[in-house]
Amino acid sequence: MTFREMSVEDLEQVVEIEKALFSDPWTKEGFFTFLTKENTMFFVVEEKEKILAYCSMQTVLDEGDILNVAVRSDRQKEGIGYFLVDSMLKMAEMSGIHIVHLEVREGNGTARRLYERLGFKEDGLRRDYYTDPTENAVLMTKMQ
Ligand SMILES: CC(C)(COP(=O)(O)OP(=O)(O)OC[C@H]1O[C@@H](n2cnc3c(N)ncnc32)[C@H](O)[C@@H]1OP(=O)(O)O)[C@@H](O)C(=O)NCCC(=O)NCCS
Repeated sequence: MTFREMSVEDLEQVVEIEKALFSDPWTKEGFFTFLTKENTMFFVVEEKEKILAYCSMQTVLDEGDILNVAVRSDRQKEGIGYFLVDSMLKMAEMSGIHIVHLEVREGNGTARRLYERLGFKEDGLRRDYYTDPTENAVLMTKMQ
């Protein structure tokens, strides 16, 4: 299993995973736009040329905002999510990112516990932030 930067060639598989996991998935064009932007980092976890997971972050000065975190549904609960986000945080730290923010659906216990294990602290709530279904966003931050 390897952790590496995402490339345009990965987008077919990434979008397939995205569509299967989210009610409001990013499109291939959306991924392409952010992937080719300055101040973003996109990574994948790959095994035998198959993408198992991906994540991304947008950065401004020494702060980062996590944009995507996803693990293919048939490979969840193996620790891949932890490995993925932990590796991205290390890459971010090496490029001078010392504060990382994210938002997560209030009811997404698995993701909230994962971020807590990685050192994120809850520090806000954005009411009815998500649609389909409508749900609050919990804001979390990690200083590193
Ligand atoms: C949230 C998400 C990224 C977590 O990824 P993951 O690879 O399942 O995460 P991990 O395996 O590191 O941890 C998940 C659980 O599996 C458990 N686990 C990890 N390795 C394990 C193993 N070898 N055996 C048994 N359980 C294990 C963890 O303890 C954790 O348990 P918990 O939920 O009770 O705390 C994934 O579920 C996902 O893609 N969900 C849909 C999209 C999503 O919600 N993205 C986040 C948006 S903010």
